[in-house]
Amino acid sequence: MTDDLQKRIQAALANPQNMGELADADAVGTVGNADCGEMLRMWVKFKEQDGKQVIDRATFQSFGCETAIAVASLATELIRGKTAAEALSLRPEELAGELGPLPPMKIHCAQLVEGAMRSALSPKTETCARPVAAAAMTTPTTAPTLLDSFSKPKEGGVKITFLDN
Ligand code: FES
Repeated sequence: MTDDLQKRIQAALANPQNMGELADADAVGTVGNADCGEMLRMWVKFKEQDGKQVIDRATFQSFGCETAIAVASLATELIRGKTAAEALSLRPEELAGELGPLPPMKIHCAQLVEGAMRSALSPKTETCARPVAAAAMTTPTTAPTLLDSFSKPKEGGVKITFLDN
């Protein structure tokens, strides 16, 4: 990794945005990478704007490397105000935003963020954690943390999907 990229990552980590659970989220998605052992969960809350459902806020938690956290911080800002379809059209390198191009060994870090977002926003895919429409009709209680995911048996609702590299 170049010094320049390392500096940009450190700058993003110095003031990470949108870390933590979003208790009243409409959707949540969790993914893991079996190779590096990283996991990332993203929560999304929608709002109505100009007759469309747009992302009001997105937050994340990560047992992740610095690159994944930096990308998640930037990506959760980037998708604000976008529809689910607009957010889903973003490629991992676009989600990485001002970090710029990632070296090959770090591309999967951005893909982890993309996967969590896709898991939360794509109700019809296998990686879906919870369909957005169904989620919007329920009143979520406190969302489980990633640590809970590891330490408690699942009672349904959240599926952890391991991404292929
Ligand atoms: Fe695997 Fe960054 S090293 S997510």
